[in-house]
Amino acid sequence: MAASGFYERWVLPRLIDLAMRNKQVTRYREKTIPAAAGRVLEIGAGSGLNLRFYGPQVQHLYALDPSARLLQMAKRRQPAAGFPVEYLETSAEEIPLDSRSIDTVVSTWTLCSVPDAARALREARRVLKPGGLLLFTEHGYAPDPGVQAWQRRLDPLWTRMAGGCHLDRKIDRLIHEAGFDIVELTNEYLKGPRPMTYTYSGEARPR
Ligand SMILES: C[S@@+](CC[C@H](N)C(=O)[O-])C[C@H]1O[C@@H](n2cnc3c(N)ncnc32)[C@H](O)[C@@H]1O
Repeated sequence: MAASGFYERWVLPRLIDLAMRNKQVTRYREKTIPAAAGRVLEIGAGSGLNLRFYGPQVQHLYALDPSARLLQMAKRRQPAAGFPVEYLETSAEEIPLDSRSIDTVVSTWTLCSVPDAARALREARRVLKPGGLLLFTEHGYAPDPGVQAWQRRLDPLWTRMAGGCHLDRKIDRLIHEAGFDIVELTNEYLKGPRPMTYTYSGEARPR
């Protein structure tokens, strides 16, 4: 196995799991996830760190992620509530679910890593029922020109090191352009290097 293959297959999933467990990130999970209800689809579910925050109002959870390793880790975590979880090992750019079949789509720190985030969001909109909800907490393009310059500068290297993660995605614009109205939005820098921590958290509904 080439060194890059080894890194992506064995090292990166563990790094992602570790990096995504810090206190501030967990605080956002606590805030974002409990609003999910009904038939829920989580895109880029990763190692399942959101599972324990879903409440009893969830009927069924589809946990979608293209990484078999991360889904294996997710399967070892138990959801707090007793709803069934179905794991979909595939990409959010082509969601294998019927149109208008989902009540809530959840995306946390995923849109940075999906190669075609606009397409994934259009897919999210397609599977959502009219009146459904997109819950998101993502990092992305900062408002400060100095930070933006660093985001653009670091992006090519960062993308290679961090599993395809991009630093310069304007998350609110991507969501809006995919056919959603953003009904709630909070932005802030989390602790840590500013190019990596500008956060977009909120709710959107299909237009
Ligand atoms: C930084 S991790 C975040 C994981 C998880 N959402 C969380 O909050 O802990 C980015 C995730 O995006 C996933 N991802 C990458 N490409 C994807 C795609 N095309 N469709 C769906 N998820 C993807 C990765 O496998 C990884 O699980």
